[in-house]
Amino acid sequence: MHIHRLEKIWLVFGCIMLAVFLIIIGVSAFASDNQPPSDATLIDPTQVDQTKPFDKPGLKKIDDNKYEAVMVSQAFQFTPQDMTIKKGATVDFLVTSKDVVHGFEIVKTNVNMMVVPGHINSIEYTFKEAGEYLIVCNEYCGSAHHMMSTKIKVVE
Ligand code: CUA
Repeated sequence: MHIHRLEKIWLVFGCIMLAVFLIIIGVSAFASDNQPPSDATLIDPTQVDQTKPFDKPGLKKIDDNKYEAVMVSQAFQFTPQDMTIKKGATVDFLVTSKDVVHGFEIVKTNVNMMVVPGHINSIEYTFKEAGEYLIVCNEYCGSAHHMMSTKIKVVE
């Protein structure tokens, strides 16, 4: 079988590009200890109230500029309601669900998680501007889904 010279060149070029592409994806996916941002920790959704730290949901001050927010989602509310933090502080959110899949979106930020029952979902965010931040559920979870929200006040 005869293959035209140019055709051969392009075939080889295509194969090389494919290899380069796969190597870039493979290396970048596992480089610098990359790992999925959440979903790594499991919890029994029927035992949330008895499982640390969700037995005591709330905002904990870890040091001057760092908080941990332990939050429980259930139809149709977030616990705790209305947290207040200092401007410039970083908050480590740990969120789980007692029932169905909920959303966790902090409006006007890039924080947007799916809260899956059985998993502890976590995300970190630094609040650089003062103001009131609305947290909403953006996964349809039932008849009062649109009522499901809480707030974070960031004060100077
Ligand atoms: Cu919870 Cu929608």
